[in-house]
Amino acid sequence: MSQTVLVTGGSGFIGRHVAAELVENGYRTRVLDALIDQVHGQGQADLPPEVEFRQGDVRDADTVRGALRGCDAVIHLAAEVGVGQSMYEITRYVSANDLGTAVLLEAMIGAPVETVIVASSMSVYGEGLYQGGGGQRLERVRRRPQALRAGRWDPVDGEGHILSPIATDEEKPVDLASIYALTKYAQERAVLIFAEAYGIRASALRLFNVFGTGQALANPYTGVLVNFASRLANGERPMIFEDGRQRRDFVHVRDVARAFRLALENNRANGEVINIGSGKAYAIAEIARLLADAMGVPHLEPDIVNKARAGDIRNCFADISRARDLLGFEPRYRLEDTLAPFAEWVREVGAEDRGPDMRRQLEERGLVS
Ligand SMILES: NC(=O)c1ccc[n+]([C@@H]2O[C@H](COP(=O)([O-])OP(=O)(O)OC[C@H]3O[C@@H](n4cnc5c(N)ncnc54)[C@H](O)[C@@H]3O)[C@@H](O)[C@H]2O)c1
Repeated sequence: MSQTVLVTGGSGFIGRHVAAELVENGYRTRVLDALIDQVHGQGQADLPPEVEFRQGDVRDADTVRGALRGCDAVIHLAAEVGVGQSMYEITRYVSANDLGTAVLLEAMIGAPVETVIVASSMSVYGEGLYQGGGGQRLERVRRRPQALRAGRWDPVDGEGHILSPIATDEEKPVDLASIYALTKYAQERAVLIFAEAYGIRASALRLFNVFGTGQALANPYTGVLVNFASRLANGERPMIFEDGRQRRDFVHVRDVARAFRLALENNRANGEVINIGSGKAYAIAEIARLLADAMGVPHLEPDIVNKARAGDIRNCFADISRARDLLGFEPRYRLEDTLAPFAEWVREVGAEDRGPDMRRQLEERGLVS
């Protein structure tokens, strides 16, 4: 008999792709999602018809108990998602992410499942890994506020030499620099601690920057690419903090969805935290230019703000050796090859530009310097 999987937050950007991946691979799939306004303001996006949908909040114990009934596994994606917003809507983030996970785990005591996979985030690392001049591994790099105020964006060593970023592996200690990161780490630990105590298989996938069609275009707090796309679609230049040379790892949402299924199916993933990225580093301004080209507006050059956002890091891109080894994961989609369909999708659905709103919200609270 096929397994039944509960996907919390399964109506969201990643959740819909996870649900589709599960259905395509023969799983019975149930989604529990509160359909929060910030993500679903423009109406609920479609789930495959085979998916059983339940609207409800993960903090509501009765609802969660009902949703867990008959399930063999849980993929826990429900969360408030946004680094900048988490720095002032603190209660909201801690409540949905930490309390939500607590209620879900408690409900599992009465309805044990075999496996839980939780979505964690690259944000738990803070700055990624660096290498010093002598090739030594630097795990705890931080930028000083004075340096950022002076526009010196790159982390430096004691003598002021710029450090080289290298791919971040899971051995790098966490360094939490935002409330969002704190809640993602709490979710990750809570799931792994709980699962070990109750003899349940569990893994936490540390997702890097996920992109692809279906991300909430009206939500200015998530997704670099959708933010850029919604600016470009409205004839505006993408807004880029700092100087645009900061580097990130963009992983396609379908690769991420497959990684969740592989984590469900692989015993070797038990008890592990695993990076899910593309393994490649992209400069943010370069991404904005590639996307402007793909959207047919190459003249809309990035608007380099030359200011830093509180909680932002300079560089972080994934070492995906562990995902390759434990899950047999290999990214199939490259950013460069998927920008055209992404641009097409943005044109089709239309996009409201909330970028200036986001910047004002952060500036009013002194979170941009
Ligand atoms: N998108 C990324 O780049 C990225 C990167 C790292 C980690 N993640 C993690 O992946 C997961 C999914 O992210 P996403 O990009 O699909 O975000 P999303 O906002 O599109 O989806 C989240 C879903 O959770 C639902 N939700 C929120 N609060 C809820 C609650 N209290 N009860 C029930 N449902 C609730 C929302 O309605 C939404 O459908 C999150 O846990 C996020 O932290 C995402």
